[in-house]
Amino acid sequence: MNTLLSFVLFCLINFHKSIFAFVPSGRGNHNAVLIDKRLYFHGGLRADEGYASYPLFYLDVSKSFTTHDISLMPWTDLSSISSVTYKAGATACVDETTIYYIGGFHSGGFVSKFDTISLQWSEPTTSGSIPREYMKYDHCVILGHNIYVYGGYTVHQMNILDTSKLLWSTFTSSLIYSGTQNYSATLLNDSILYIGGTFGSYDGCQTNSNQELPISIFNINDNTWRIVTTSGQIPTRKCHHASVYIPQHNRILLFYGADDITINSLDTLTFTWTIPVILNSGGPLRCLEDHTATLVGAYVLIAFGYYQTDEDVLISSDIFLLDVSRKDSYKWVTIYDPINSIQPVPASPTSTSNFNIGSVITGTIGVTIGMIIGGVIMIFLNRANYIRLP
Ligand SMILES: *[C@@H]1O[C@H](CO)[C@@H](O)[C@H](O)[C@H]1NC(C)=O
Ligand SMILES: *[C@@H]1O[C@H](CO)[C@@H](O)[C@H](O)[C@H]1NC(C)=O
Repeated sequence: MNTLLSFVLFCLINFHKSIFAFVPSGRGNHNAVLIDKRLYFHGGLRADEGYASYPLFYLDVSKSFTTHDISLMPWTDLSSISSVTYKAGATACVDETTIYYIGGFHSGGFVSKFDTISLQWSEPTTSGSIPREYMKYDHCVILGHNIYVYGGYTVHQMNILDTSKLLWSTFTSSLIYSGTQNYSATLLNDSILYIGGTFGSYDGCQTNSNQELPISIFNINDNTWRIVTTSGQIPTRKCHHASVYIPQHNRILLFYGADDITINSLDTLTFTWTIPVILNSGGPLRCLEDHTATLVGAYVLIAFGYYQTDEDVLISSDIFLLDVSRKDSYKWVTIYDPINSIQPVPASPTSTSNFNIGSVITGTIGVTIGMIIGGVIMIFLNRANYIRLP
């Protein structure tokens, strides 16, 4: 009996390994973009070693997985697609099913385009007031077909790429945002919120002197800037972080950054900062920077980046999952469940819900069976002395 069970497990594992054989290496300054249940990763650097190999791959988030061992996650490599180029410190925005990668260090064009339906990579030629090569470590947002990218090394300028015409235009105004790189950008209604960033040097991180960290907001309708003062538990410094917007909870979450081990939450209605409640310990144990954070279903998936240590920079190949389904009780988890969803904060106490209990039960059973099988495989793997990531 035992032998039979071992044999079945052996076959299962080898079947599993042969499908998900690709394992991405760690990297920082990469991009992560979610389109239709696939989280596409592109580019990145391995600190001083140069571009990370395997520039294009995705994680299938329609399936359940565990983050204990990234080699068992459902990755698919797309790096062998014809003419894929390398980039690092670029920014990525999605127009329907096409990803535009802009700026950064690059082995191909300044703008690259990946069609996720036809799986074609191309380097389109753009026209108009094309930004110069200073556009690195920036973050874009997209509204309609317009991609907004602010800044550059010393350039305080809003750059807009109209993807339907592949045409660039630029805006400067008297009130400008001072951080030009390593910030985060979030689209809210017709405004873009810029938080943190650096000013012309690595150590020029935006810090919280005089107990305030004003936020700059760019209005897309009239191309003007305004400054909003914030209150609450204002972050002490913010740069090289990653951010996620959770519309159901009116929150922007900021993850880590240079010399920074905290997660900060900004209420987008009141502009109040808090440190979100997390029920358990987990997540990175050191300062993490130049990583990505993406809202995937009910989770924030934090991928790769650089760990700062006293004497060195360590390249992370870790994936962390924060379950954000409940606004005031986040938790660190290692199992991703595609059925879990974000609980909206009820608008009134009498809000009626008419969800289908049948599908919930079926889903729960499916996940339970999946977890049991996954659990048995994990136990077997541990017995078989598989090397765990530190
Ligand atoms: C966005 O719109 C909502 C609802 O109209 C409003 O309450 C909120 O203040 C707006 N946010 C910004 C940043 O303008
Ligand atoms: C942004 O960070 C990079 C390193 O990751 C640094 O080289 C660059 O100077 C920073 N940009 C600014 C404007 O400080």
